[in-house]
Amino acid sequence: MLKIAASLLAADFACLKRDIGRVEKADYLHVDVMDGLFVPNISFGPPVIGAVADITPVPLHLHLMVWEPGRLLDVLYAAGGGQIDCITVHAEACTHLHRTLQEIKNLGVKAGVALNPATSTDGIRHVLGLVDRVLVMTVNPGFGGQQFLWEMVPKIRATKELMDSAGVECEIGVDGGIDMVTAPEVVEAGARFLVAGSAIFKADRPEQVIAGLRGVNRENRG
Ligand code: DX5
Ligand code: ZN
Repeated sequence: MLKIAASLLAADFACLKRDIGRVEKADYLHVDVMDGLFVPNISFGPPVIGAVADITPVPLHLHLMVWEPGRLLDVLYAAGGGQIDCITVHAEACTHLHRTLQEIKNLGVKAGVALNPATSTDGIRHVLGLVDRVLVMTVNPGFGGQQFLWEMVPKIRATKELMDSAGVECEIGVDGGIDMVTAPEVVEAGARFLVAGSAIFKADRPEQVIAGLRGVNRENRG
């Protein structure tokens, strides 16, 4: 079964409560935290995460696009008020990735690792046992509404093969440019957790897009 995460970055921030209410059928609300350094953009921090957690029953998936995210785990976790399902950090942003993943697990939430397009999955082979989800970035992180990078499809496949050969059962996620055209390709390659921002929030009927993405399978390929 595919899991669908609606990426809040594509919401209308002047009507955040309304837009969050429109995606309650999603499995997760994906919250992109940016620091203006690891990525050239700034988005949400603890106060917004706290406010969001207060108004939705949907579990939160935090995607930390910040340098040394270990510094911020406690404050972000406290803001989420127990509604955080998973915290994903970038492999490139952590000097001590293994330690940071342990710290996430110690909070009692799932741990995810995101990989920039230029980062190979081979580099995280030795931490896969600690990881619940590998998030293959299918755009360069930092902005919503970018074009899907088709070169990432073989990387998703390679990630699946690496996990199978290592005998680990973590989930493969994708983030960036996911819609009804690209979703069948990433699912065929092995992705089971789809993050979508523009495709969901910019739609007239977000719940229909969520249901459509959830129903994608390899037969839908164009
Ligand atoms: C990009 C973010 C994504 C983004 C996806 O850096 O991590 O979560 O919101 O947006 P779309 O689906 O519009 O590419
Ligand atoms: Zn994201």
